[in-house]
Amino acid sequence: KKVLLAYSGGLDTSVIIPWLKENYNNCEVIGMTGNVGQDDDFEFLKQKAIDCGATKLYVEDLREEFITDYIFPAIQAGAKYESTYLLGTAFARPLIAKRMVEIAHQEGCDAIVHGCTGKGNDQVRFELGIREFDPHMTIIAPWREWDILSREQEFDYAEAHNIPLPITRETNYSKDENLFHLSHEGLDLEDPTTKPKYDEILELGVSPQKAPDQETTVSVTFEAGVPVAVNGEKLDAIPLLEKLNELGGANGIGILDVVENRLVGMKSRGVYETPGGTILYHAHEKLEQITLDRDTQHYKQGMALKYADLVYNGLWFSPLRKALQVFVDETQKNVTGTVHMELYKGNIIDAGMTSPYSLYSDALATFGEDDIYNQNDAEGFIKLFGLPQSARVMAEQTWAKG
Ligand code: ARG
Ligand code: SIN
Repeated sequence: KKVLLAYSGGLDTSVIIPWLKENYNNCEVIGMTGNVGQDDDFEFLKQKAIDCGATKLYVEDLREEFITDYIFPAIQAGAKYESTYLLGTAFARPLIAKRMVEIAHQEGCDAIVHGCTGKGNDQVRFELGIREFDPHMTIIAPWREWDILSREQEFDYAEAHNIPLPITRETNYSKDENLFHLSHEGLDLEDPTTKPKYDEILELGVSPQKAPDQETTVSVTFEAGVPVAVNGEKLDAIPLLEKLNELGGANGIGILDVVENRLVGMKSRGVYETPGGTILYHAHEKLEQITLDRDTQHYKQGMALKYADLVYNGLWFSPLRKALQVFVDETQKNVTGTVHMELYKGNIIDAGMTSPYSLYSDALATFGEDDIYNQNDAEGFIKLFGLPQSARVMAEQTWAKG
């Protein structure tokens, strides 16, 4: 018996290795870590996985695919869960799941194991991702099976099995990091009446209070909805996001304190750091203001919430998400241009934008003289636009008279 474990090097997945061996007939455990840009020393992780009892650890560099095939398409869709959360964790899960199935097949594994709890979204995302590529794959989720009931008991188990502890008992926020974001949940954050301890929590940047008193100017250039340059410098996906993370982080951009509705039913509170991603979402939406026609822009806005629900709920590979993507792609043809911004203490201040495909017409919008728009036309327009209203009010008056 051989299993493939989604390994992060954290407490949960480290404890799972000896637990699997104890509970699944001393099975062989192979680890897989998806490199989606988290700040980890992967050579160290490989050794650690082996120290915990794994035979080997695959480290898969998924960064490029993560940004180009998951993050950028969702930014184009404008997808924010409950209009707020930028979905950083939800983008990475399907991609990791897909790669795991490939490795599990290659290795002839009998099962895929993940360290998600039975109370969260990630279990759903991993498992739907796995089923998309192998509906028959056995999935083991130790958190739903074992009798370890808390982080404290988990520490005890780790100590009893000589697992090298990755974190201290005090600072064990549940975190998830990738190139796009860092999430924090648990501990004092579980009480939404209190302010998060930002000085202790933040890792990708500083709080707005600690950001410089001077603004940082930044521009992002898009081609057909894809970000291609920062401050006029052409950059590939990875360095582009790294650059924006650095600028955003230094200026306190993209820190969110959210109570969200999990798919499994409860509300949960988390703090998210998405510095570069916040700049990208903002700049992209800005550019659409001048490059999309009104109807497309409005329709797309409504659709973005549905798209975000699908992603949040682990339905990345669903026919509906793909169909919505085709719609989104069609809308992006002219979303080309440059958006100028100033980053200042947690704020993004707009500083103008340009596009060769701008639909904005100063000749039309001007309060000055203009010869395209005849103000007399507005009179008939308003009468016909308001016709249903006039009809209703007249009818109501007749009814009132009896
Ligand atoms: N609540 C967020 C989400 O559902 C973050 C989840 C973080 N996951 C984790 N394993 N720490 O996307
Ligand atoms: C977990 O429960 O494993 C992390 C949080 C989540 O999946 O929502």
